[in-house]
Amino acid sequence: MIIGGTGASSMTLEWAMVELMRNPEIMKKVQTEVRSVAKGDTIVEDDIQNMHYMKMVVKETFRLHGPPILVPRVSREPCTVDGFYIPLKTRILVNAWACGTDADSWEDADSFIPERFETSSINYLGSDFQLLPFGGGRRICPGISFGVGIIENALANLLFHFDWELPNGLKPHELDMTEATVLSNLPKHPLEVVPLAMQSLQK
Ligand code: HEM
Repeated sequence: MIIGGTGASSMTLEWAMVELMRNPEIMKKVQTEVRSVAKGDTIVEDDIQNMHYMKMVVKETFRLHGPPILVPRVSREPCTVDGFYIPLKTRILVNAWACGTDADSWEDADSFIPERFETSSINYLGSDFQLLPFGGGRRICPGISFGVGIIENALANLLFHFDWELPNGLKPHELDMTEATVLSNLPKHPLEVVPLAMQSLQK
């Protein structure tokens, strides 16, 4: 629980920052929202509920960079799925990454476009099979609310308190997007960024 919980949350947070550093116009849009919603010098729980675009950024990060494979299942009876016969007691690995990037389910599936959720009711609660970062059914992640809360809170604070730039003159499109997939899907080379304190907060 501890490894799964902390690892998956920090992985998602890192990928969210990678995507925002790679897409400066999305970074600008989400920072503008976070800074216009938050009143005062700190972010409170109610503020986060009004950060609709930031929530879409997190959802889009789950779609592209969620855990790739769910907890293995075993078939309890023979069945046929999409023309494939699956015998009794077959070990089944659900490829959640493939669901999230399937071109039949998602337009421009490989691009990071948080706006796609503006007009879509697809959610990550386990009943939309196109988006399964927390799995589904009996073995669905019991830490969804906790995990989402941690990520939204941490991301909102990173975006509110700091501007970010890439080190050594690196350009956004030069960011290395290679994944190091083991059980999770971490960036192979950890993101390096330079925090710049917001002018208005420098007292
Ligand atoms: C972004 C954060 C997280 C993600 C993406 C995530 C993802 C997942 C996934 C994909 C599964 C397998 C579900 C399935 O096979 O249907 C899972 C299981 C699990 N998760 Fe999470 N998780 C996150 C956060 C957490 C947190 C914060 C906790 C607890 C504090 C937690 C505890 C667990 C446990 C105990 C299981 C095993 C459930 C079982 O096998 O019955 N997770 N998680």
